[in-house]
Amino acid sequence: MQQMSGGIDRLTAEQMDRADPLAATRDRFALPPGVIYLDGNSLGALPRGVTERVAEVLEAEWGRDLIGSWNTAGWIDLPGRVAGRIAALIGADPDEVAVADSTSVNVFKLLAAAVALRPDRRVIVMEPSTFPTDGYVAASVAQTYGLELRWCDPADPLAAVGADTAVLSLTHVDYRTGRVYDQVQITAGAHAAGALMMWDLCHTAGALPFDLHATGADLAVGCTYKYLNGGPGAPAYAFAARRLHSDLSQPLTGWMGHAEPFEMRRDYVPSAGMRRFQVGTPPIIALSALDAALDAFDGVELAALRAKSLQLTSLFIELVRARTDLEVVTPLDPERRGSQVSLRHPAAYGVAQALIARGVVGDFRTPDIARFGFAPLYLRAVDVWDAVEQLVQVLQDEEYARPAYAVRAAVT
Ligand SMILES: Cc1ncc(COP(=O)(O)O)c(C=O)c1O
Repeated sequence: MQQMSGGIDRLTAEQMDRADPLAATRDRFALPPGVIYLDGNSLGALPRGVTERVAEVLEAEWGRDLIGSWNTAGWIDLPGRVAGRIAALIGADPDEVAVADSTSVNVFKLLAAAVALRPDRRVIVMEPSTFPTDGYVAASVAQTYGLELRWCDPADPLAAVGADTAVLSLTHVDYRTGRVYDQVQITAGAHAAGALMMWDLCHTAGALPFDLHATGADLAVGCTYKYLNGGPGAPAYAFAARRLHSDLSQPLTGWMGHAEPFEMRRDYVPSAGMRRFQVGTPPIIALSALDAALDAFDGVELAALRAKSLQLTSLFIELVRARTDLEVVTPLDPERRGSQVSLRHPAAYGVAQALIARGVVGDFRTPDIARFGFAPLYLRAVDVWDAVEQLVQVLQDEEYARPAYAVRAAVT
């Protein structure tokens, strides 16, 4: 293996790892040997302790104690307990977060709640480059309530926000490019126009700090299967600032959001606070896995997490620029970068597949992006160095052009 490249050799990467204050958190994960996992921005790795916790839930709580576990094992309060742990990672109070459903469903609930809070305003503003589900759901909310969905210029979202705007909804870290919006400036701009501000934090929580209180944001959603490592399809979260709670109504009025679910009343009365964002029976096995997964963040400072993430992405960018001629799509300015780096290549799918065959797992986003996520809790500088070494080989040998990579799998 080549030892010197782009001014940074592998020994320097090893030194970075020895000086890394978060070096020990890698042991909190059960990573497969021989794999450099650069897809934690899509599905986080398995934290140690999750398997045991899920086994306990299955065998003792469900298998042995059966339905009694709703009370004896505290299943009924599990969404609230997990919400409190997520709140700490996004600058919210525990009672401002609900853990339920998927991000898509929570976008629907919160956008509907937002437009009900601004009945004299008929416009939802969103960036067209958002993750598609946000746009699909916003269009559906607009259609359901007879509103306009206005697509803004992603480079200047506030230009589309005016006196007619009920809510501006943006994804903090762009899933395709890794570009970060200025959370403070944009939230303030939306408020100055009298609009509510909603953030999608799917690519934020667990990788970079977001302070919902400091920004004054009104609403937020996010998933827990990326940097929070909750597992495939883990439940999502919804945030609403406490000042809005008393007036907040959401359209999916299920029994678990009722003030007294076991009184079995005919008519719906919302629970106080965020509990009204529960809809149906909580997924206890998935919630238990997520709860155990969040232990990986115990004692971790969010500033240290961000510093590590930037160290990894900066190293990757520097090595890629020194050793390849690929276009780096992600902003070079660290302030404007999330925890991923996207590279452009006409055969990006083949590049991603050839790397996977070499044990470097990233992914592909249509039409021409190879995407690499850097989960700061379990990746090292040497992983970055080794990944770039593999990338150089893939490009030199044109492995991306192999016929096997001509047909895309269902999930890319
Ligand atoms: C920004 C963003 N929003 C939403 C989603 C998906 O939401 P859901 O939890 O409904 O699958 C993703 C998935 O990658 C995403 O990146």
